[in-house]
Amino acid sequence: MKVLVTGGTGYIGSHTCVELLNEGYEVVIIDNLVNSQKSVVDKIETIANKKVKFYEDDCCDEEALRKIFKENSDIEAVLHFAGLKAVGESVQMPVKYYENNLGSTLSLIKVMNEFNCKKIVFSSSATVYGDPEELPITENAKVGGTTNPYGTSKYFIERILSDICVADKDFHVVLLRYFNPIGAHASGLIGENPNGIPNNLMPYIIKVAVGELPILNVFGDDYDTPDGTGVRDYIHVVDLAKGHIKALAKGMTKPGVSIYNLGTGQGYSVLDLIKTFERVNNIKVKYQIVERRPGDIASCYADASKAYEELGWKAEKDIEDMCKDAYNFVIKNK
Ligand code: NAD
Ligand code: UFG
Repeated sequence: MKVLVTGGTGYIGSHTCVELLNEGYEVVIIDNLVNSQKSVVDKIETIANKKVKFYEDDCCDEEALRKIFKENSDIEAVLHFAGLKAVGESVQMPVKYYENNLGSTLSLIKVMNEFNCKKIVFSSSATVYGDPEELPITENAKVGGTTNPYGTSKYFIERILSDICVADKDFHVVLLRYFNPIGAHASGLIGENPNGIPNNLMPYIIKVAVGELPILNVFGDDYDTPDGTGVRDYIHVVDLAKGHIKALAKGMTKPGVSIYNLGTGQGYSVLDLIKTFERVNNIKVKYQIVERRPGDIASCYADASKAYEELGWKAEKDIEDMCKDAYNFVIKNK
């Protein structure tokens, strides 16, 4: 089966391409390289020992999408990772975020329809839950209380895809709500290494560990959590990638919208993550407690039982694997 992977050279997309190839899928990638490098294509091919077809194009460009579907008329499903994801930047540049994230999805759906391709897996986020009323968070929890344009773009796209399923009974949509992906492929060939000063915790920890940044700011130690620091559901990116294979194989059996949380179900605090990282990698991470970061919530972790019951998927890797693999990738690519 041939699939189109938008954003396939990005962090989560590249790991998913490897798992797709491992499972025998034929992979076509479209990525405009706004947040990734072309060299990732070779790395995907090296790990999987198989070829992919790569198009350096923008998903907002309908003509480019048409060309891809014409040249690969047997694309049966799309995994849609392409999008901008920096929360802070989205607050500064909302138009850019709505234009890119919504525009790419609308162009994609339009062209998919023209080519009678009606199956899509969308990269959504736990951010759609906002500040949850109950923990762990189930898929039935209230959505829409988003606090930034990035999160709102995910919420809008979920709504758009749901509306499409109402209008067209042949459409199959799987919305995957990721919790906090970290870690890297065990080969150390692909992973996450953002340019500049990272927003997210794990890349920041690593930059401090390797001496590229002087100190980690821990945003608040007065939350209502066991040690006062924020609690999140960190999930290994390879587990997350494998969730997409299950979503394709089992989540697409019935038309309409299916929604799954992809998390481990286990929450870890900022200090838990720092301590585990230090222990498994035998390295110090200097940190200081500072003010809370605006917009942050105390705790966020998944009830991931629906994905297990309906897709047969659950996360296998633990927090130690995540810390080891994340560091291994950066060390190997320094
Ligand atoms: P990433 O930035 O590493 O990957 C996204 C890829 O999409 C990049 O390679 C980028 O070049 C490409 N891209 C962006 N806009 C494009 C466009 N218009 N046309 C073609 N390519 C385009 O991000 P990631 O962490 O791999 O995230 C993948 C998806 O998962 C995103 O949609 C993101 O919002 C979502 N998500 C990520 C997280 C996370 O913490 N990483 C959490 C929840 C959801
Ligand atoms: N944190 C720090 N210091 C830092 C960075 C983060 O203390 O330098 C803390 C935060 O306050 C939070 C935790 O570490 O308690 C995790 O923060 P991240 O920025 O790594 O992740 P978030 O949970 O804030 O958000 C991430 C993505 C969102 C996505 C969400 C849910 O950035 O895009 O997970 O999937 F929507």
